[in-house]
Amino acid sequence: MNTSVPLAARINAIRHLTEDTALFTLQLTERPRQHQPSPARFHPGQFLQLSVAGAGEAPISYCGFPSSDGSIELCVRKAGRVTAALHETALGGQVAVRGPFGHGFPLEHYAGQDVLMMAGGLGMAPLRSLMLALLHQRERYGQLTLLYGAKAPEALLFRHELGDLANRKDLLVRLAVDRAGECPPGIPSCRIALLPALLEGLCIAPDRTVVPLCGPPSAYRFLIPPLLERGIAAERIQLSLERRMQCGVGRCGHCAVGTLLCCVDGPVFAYSMLKDLEGAL
Ligand SMILES: Cc1cc2nc3c(=O)[nH]c(=O)nc-3n(C[C@H](O)[C@H](O)[C@H](O)COP(=O)(O)OP(=O)(O)OC[C@H]3O[C@@H](n4cnc5c(N)ncnc54)[C@H](O)[C@@H]3O)c2cc1C
Ligand code: FES
Repeated sequence: MNTSVPLAARINAIRHLTEDTALFTLQLTERPRQHQPSPARFHPGQFLQLSVAGAGEAPISYCGFPSSDGSIELCVRKAGRVTAALHETALGGQVAVRGPFGHGFPLEHYAGQDVLMMAGGLGMAPLRSLMLALLHQRERYGQLTLLYGAKAPEALLFRHELGDLANRKDLLVRLAVDRAGECPPGIPSCRIALLPALLEGLCIAPDRTVVPLCGPPSAYRFLIPPLLERGIAAERIQLSLERRMQCGVGRCGHCAVGTLLCCVDGPVFAYSMLKDLEGAL
């Protein structure tokens, strides 16, 4: 599969989510070449390489529902050269994308399972893609739970959607913020607490629960132990890792995670693959 050729895309919509993070809807304006996959066809948890002219390229997770119409949603935080250049590009402006890359969440193993989704901060971006896919075929899954934590209420991403999600009868949503502030209206369970505290009182059947985890890597060290204590096996916990990347296809070695490569072996890994790997977490 040739994912090395970037394809042109237009910025069709920009929705500001927080002070430094926005949801960009791109529309491919160029067709994939022969044998080239479309960057708009992906599995939740995969990522693409986004380039902005004059700034370079950066890996960004897919954040929306896999579409067949060439549109792509990306939730991007202004962090450095590429992401700042994207934020400075106006509506209708042009960027380029190549992908999809890597392994996403193993949705094929989620059928019939309870899915306990946990996201911290920007981790909500890849998790939203997974959540949209699960809700699209809601009947295939058992209990669906979303635990999402952010630094402050104003840092919660997708506030416009969280209220509707919290009102659904077939999805349990619990939110936590590190510091006080006014919680978004319509969301009943916004607590001042750290993300693992949201596990308290939750009824978990460890033998039929899978846990997709997306957060800053520093959070995994305190998110994983309480899950193991609840009896959830290491292979049932899947986490998304971030490493600095260049080629995206396993050639340059920039994204090494011990003996694994984040771009091709991940970015989603079962915790059982990482737990004994030095430097992975
Ligand atoms: C699989 C994957 C998925 C991702 N998904 C998303 C997403 O959905 N949304 C999103 O906003 N971000 C996402 N990221 C993170 C994003 O790719 C990085 O923040 C990327 O560095 C942004 O590129 P940039 O050019 O804007 O920033 P950079 O110029 O690369 O700078 C980003 C930060 O890294 C620091 N930095 C620069 N060079 C180095 C270096 N050599 N070593 C260490 N630190 C350095 C800078 O000081 C700055 O703080 C993802 C990363 C990966 C690997
Ligand atoms: S980014 Fe080059 S090997 Fe992963």
